[in-house]
Formats: sequence, C-alpha cells, structure tokens
Amino acid sequence: MHRIGILISGRGSNFLAIADAIDAATIPNARIAVVISNVPDAPGLAAARERGLPAVVLESRGRKRTEHDADVIDCLRSHQVELVCLAGYMRLLSPDFVRAFPRRILNIHPSLLPAFPGLDAQQQAFDYGVQIAGCTVHFVDEELDHGVIVLQRAIPVLPTDDAHTLAARILEQEHLAYPEAIVHVLSGRYAVMGRKYVSIE
Ligand code: GRF
Repeated sequence: MHRIGILISGRGSNFLAIADAIDAATIPNARIAVVISNVPDAPGLAAARERGLPAVVLESRGRKRTEHDADVIDCLRSHQVELVCLAGYMRLLSPDFVRAFPRRILNIHPSLLPAFPGLDAQQQAFDYGVQIAGCTVHFVDEELDHGVIVLQRAIPVLPTDDAHTLAARILEQEHLAYPEAIVHVLSGRYAVMGRKYVSIE
C-alpha cells in the first residue's frame, strides 16, 4: 500500500481530488497517510477530518523555515509517507526537505511551466494574453516551480474568459492531472533523464 502525505495551506480541492481518486481506486493501492497544514484554519483540514483522515497542523508563521520543515519531515516520516504531494502548500521547501524525499515530492502549479511560476499564475497568464493555458505537475526541487515535469494539461483561453473563469477551468484540469501523475509516479514506470520524465512501458 502506497502511503501518500499531503501538504496544504488552504482550500484543499486538489487534496480532495486525490482523496476521491484513491476512494475510486483510480489511484490504486494507495492511502492518504496524513494531511498536514501550515495554516491552522485551512478549510482543507476540516475536509480531511470529515473524511476521517489524520489531519495535523504544523503552523509555520513566525518560525524559521528549517525548523518548521524539520517538524514536517518528522511528521511525514512518523506516518511512513512514501510520496509527498504539495496541494496548494504556499511555502517554499528548504533544501533539507527536498533532500529528505529525493524525487518523492510532487507539486501542482496552475500554468504551463516554465511560463508564469509563482503566485497568481492564472492571472499572470491571462494578463499576458496567452491563448493556451493549463497546469503542470512536477517534482519539487530547490527552486520555485522548477523541478522535472511529470505531466501537463492544456486548455484554450476562450474569448469570453476573464482571469476568474480561466482559473476555474484550469482547476478542473488540475483535478484530473494530479491523480493521473500520482498513478504514473507510483507505478515506477519512468526514468528521469536530465530534465526529462520518460515513461517506460
Ligand atoms: C491550485 O491552483 C494549485 O495549482 C496551486 O494552488 C492552488 C491550490 O488550490 N498550487 P486547492 O487548495 O488545491 O484548492
């Protein structure tokens, strides 16, 4: 049984998409071992508790990154987590954290990286005038929104879109992309060559 740890800071809709995919066995042979939030009142925490999942608050405010990260690493290890999924976790990971789970941390970002890293990616893309938008699931490395790309999903920007409707349609794609990427990574049927994620059949 693959044990997944989820890190959130807010709403948690990607976390719920992953939880639903596990319940439906779309992500087979997996369970959510723990949901950790660095924000005490993150709505995703309540959702985790409602589902009977272990939900832990490790508040980051006012703490040194390395010290907070050490607590998060301890918590993930104590729950025997094999794969860490960042799902709207609004905090950079320290190099120690990245090294603690080598190529075992995924993130989802609401743009077609390397375009529009950082905050408000959908608004950035909309303001730039892109005609194709989307989302990216990638391994986490020490740079923001930078690691090897596992999977991307693209959608057209419609003439009727504003940044809000675009973000909503990207989010629908995120909820498909993240479970799909997790299934593939957990299958182990891939190799990473430089920056390239290569599927092995
Ligand atoms: C998503 O857009 C995700 O791509 C980004 O943060 C947002 C989190 O949303 N990293 P949610 O908390 O999963 O609903």
